Amino acid sequence: MSAAPEMMVNGKPVPIKAAGSTRLSSVLRDELGLYGTKVGCDAGDCGACSVLVDGEIACSCLIAAGQVSGSDVRTVEGLQADGRLSALQESFLSHGAAQCGACTPGMLVAAHALLAKNQAPDRQEVQDALNGVLCRCTGYSKIIDAVLDASTAIDDRLELPSRVGDRINHVDGMPKVLGETVFGADHLPDDAVFVRVIRSPHHHAQFAIGDKQAFVDRHPGLLGVYDASDVAGQNHHGVIPEFADQPVFAEKTARFRGEAVAAIAGDRDWVLRFDPADFPITWTVLDPLLEPQEALLKQAAPVPAGRPDNVLVRGLVKRGDAETGLKQAVHKVSGRFSTPFVEHAYIEPEAGFARRVDDGIEIFGCTQTAYMNRDSIAAIMGLDVEAVRVVASACGGGFGAKLDISWQPYVAIAAWALKRPAAIVYSRGESMQSTTKRHSSRIDMTVGCDADGRLTGMRFDGVFNTGAYASWGPTVANRVPVHASGPYHVANYRADSVAVHTHLVPAGAFRGFGVPQAAVAQESLFDELAEKAGIDRLDFRLINALDDGLSTVTGQVFDEGVGIKPCLEALKPRWRQMLDEAAAYNGKAAARGLPLRRGVGIGTCWYGCGNTSLPNPSTMRIGVRPDGTVVLHQGAIDIGQGANTVMAQIAAEVLDLKAGAIELISADTALTPDCGKTSASRQTFVSGNATEKAARALRAQILRHANTGGEAGLSFEHGRIIASDAAAVSSVVLCDMPVNEFGYVFMAEETYDPPTGPLDECGQGSPYALFGYGAQLVQLTMDTALGTIELDRIIAAHDVGRAINPMLVEGQIEGGIAQGIGFALMEQYVAGRTENLHDYLIPTIGDVPPIESIIIEVPDAEGPFGAKGLGEHVLIPTAPAILSAIRHAAGARLYDLPATPDRVLAAIKKAQKDG
Ligand code: FES
Repeated sequence: MSAAPEMMVNGKPVPIKAAGSTRLSSVLRDELGLYGTKVGCDAGDCGACSVLVDGEIACSCLIAAGQVSGSDVRTVEGLQADGRLSALQESFLSHGAAQCGACTPGMLVAAHALLAKNQAPDRQEVQDALNGVLCRCTGYSKIIDAVLDASTAIDDRLELPSRVGDRINHVDGMPKVLGETVFGADHLPDDAVFVRVIRSPHHHAQFAIGDKQAFVDRHPGLLGVYDASDVAGQNHHGVIPEFADQPVFAEKTARFRGEAVAAIAGDRDWVLRFDPADFPITWTVLDPLLEPQEALLKQAAPVPAGRPDNVLVRGLVKRGDAETGLKQAVHKVSGRFSTPFVEHAYIEPEAGFARRVDDGIEIFGCTQTAYMNRDSIAAIMGLDVEAVRVVASACGGGFGAKLDISWQPYVAIAAWALKRPAAIVYSRGESMQSTTKRHSSRIDMTVGCDADGRLTGMRFDGVFNTGAYASWGPTVANRVPVHASGPYHVANYRADSVAVHTHLVPAGAFRGFGVPQAAVAQESLFDELAEKAGIDRLDFRLINALDDGLSTVTGQVFDEGVGIKPCLEALKPRWRQMLDEAAAYNGKAAARGLPLRRGVGIGTCWYGCGNTSLPNPSTMRIGVRPDGTVVLHQGAIDIGQGANTVMAQIAAEVLDLKAGAIELISADTALTPDCGKTSASRQTFVSGNATEKAARALRAQILRHANTGGEAGLSFEHGRIIASDAAAVSSVVLCDMPVNEFGYVFMAEETYDPPTGPLDECGQGSPYALFGYGAQLVQLTMDTALGTIELDRIIAAHDVGRAINPMLVEGQIEGGIAQGIGFALMEQYVAGRTENLHDYLIPTIGDVPPIESIIIEVPDAEGPFGAKGLGEHVLIPTAPAILSAIRHAAGARLYDLPATPDRVLAAIKKAQKDG
């Protein structure tokens, strides 16, 4: 009998027990427990599963176990040197190159392979080497810098004070660079059954499920089949309770391609091999309504019952008289714009597991909102909320789509029925088919100004395709009219929006909640209007920019903290310089007869942080154990944006600690208070305030006990706290003190809810407690013969009020810009056509140019230490700035995204024809 084949894995011989055809990624993860190797697509498109095979980079999902017999395989777990972080790993940490961390193992492995051959690569060589690994969070800039600096990186940041304003490492960065962070698909229980959802292959169809029991009886690997009849509670869910309409399992009619109709649970191998075409179901295909304009027609059949004309919600903001303002205009421009559905494309597909604990259910996996999940699952399962516990795993990117329920009910139902843990891991195709998208839009807009360039009137009409179910459609429809003016003072304004149902995947939250679509129209028309008025594009914006004391389009007036002008002023010198350089470049190219043209563009944004006109509270708990450890119950889910680090820095600032010294308990409905959802750029602002309040209350308790003044300094030592001021030094011995029910000697729990007010029937009121602002410049070079575009550089100025951690701020800016580049130039989700990361293109490392971030700090008294939110804002100006640069380069006016080469070429030809 011949010996079993072997491979070397991270320097140790390992027998290959799996069938020769098993993916190497599965062997590494499922047999060897090396979960650092992530699986993002199982198709070689994302590179998350990259490993080294005999020193060469390879996607382990594309390699069969039988191919690596005798090979030397190295994974992220094998990158440490002598049990210490490698210089490359240190460099990733100190540059903040790992945000969510889902791509980090693949990036590290690819970079390691490069550095093994070339210890001093240049930027282009780094880009070439890492080009096969996708990142959706970072914009790649910090990853490139980390690799370039790997040989010189010395991590001394833990020695920094690590308070507010310090550029410290992510407090949760270490496990990310080690490949130890636990995402939804990692460390699933050994005894878990596997669940797979059966989905509609049609946009719109009636269906009938056959005999479920007979199906189970025929297949020994199958333990359960579930459909709508197995839902004990309500068979629908939704992120806004009054609009909750999405079935857990469709009943008789499927309303979008990818909609869940049933689920199977059983032996893992059997379930994963099962062909859904063999599921006992018959389909009657119906005509779908795919375009909002069709769906709005009176005779169109309703997509969901009970919503006349397929209208989910209409939004309106009206101030002054837009028509009169436009009549008074000396210059006026109009345009119709369209943007497509956009996929979130986070690298971690949805995954997690559930287990039944007596008469309760526990759910562990990826999410952006533990408490909302808990409440939805309780309603679906027919349980009290106390019977449901949701524990958030690390979240490998979310960007809005992981706010909605997706995988959770299916594992809950199976685990409840089978009394065994039940796990699920979405495939990439399933994730793309079934989870929410950015709304596609069609926008008509007219803007007018006087002879001096002052805006006189603005009219906006936006139709948003919200898909088959509500999700965040009402939020988009209400947020857009508030923001469609951009950060400008417009006395005469009317913005209407409507979210319309179609037979497409539900559109929901995606970085910006509809504002990026509106900004494309508003910013493009501002450029055209400036041109008509003969005013420089940046100056035109400065003339009209909001300022302290000026009213927004909802009538809200801020006495302080309006930061758009400082952003524009900061960019002005570079703007002039870039325009001059572009003119010189274009002169030379024309003289040489080259079809190349350089363009410089500008885009701006504002964004209200938090929910629109709704309560929005966060609660934080902080305590001190008898041993002196400070523990923060940090329920604001960190999806890579850095909430863990930001909250730790805020608490550290108040308590005179280092951020790394604070122990964090992450989102778990049994252990952390409700911090609300991670969305709408609210965590730094809202949860940051809750953290500051809680830390201040804790500090006050300690100082009272120590009988020292309010300005006393604190020093947390083992078993005691030293409080000292000019008058005295006091020692609080903790081990002699009683502890509370949570095991704390001192504890504080505080809530912050931003002061907002409702909007009236004209959309007037105070929807947000504060806004963030930004402006970006883009320089690109265009081949006017081909319509191709190369982005040369982007400069971004964003007002964050106060940068709690400048490195994290830059990371958000760079990552948002990368997503904005995708929105502008390449991304378009088409159900049935672009349901994978091969056909659906997102920016690679080669698509993102160098980005310069300018952090503007115009403090807002409402924010913690003056800080404002940032995450959503940063994507908004990028696409408008790219379109602006395209217009500048060749006069080409793009009204439809993405600006693919064929569209750019057509616009160039039209511009040439129009003269
Ligand atoms: Fe790269 Fe999140 S850090 S995908």
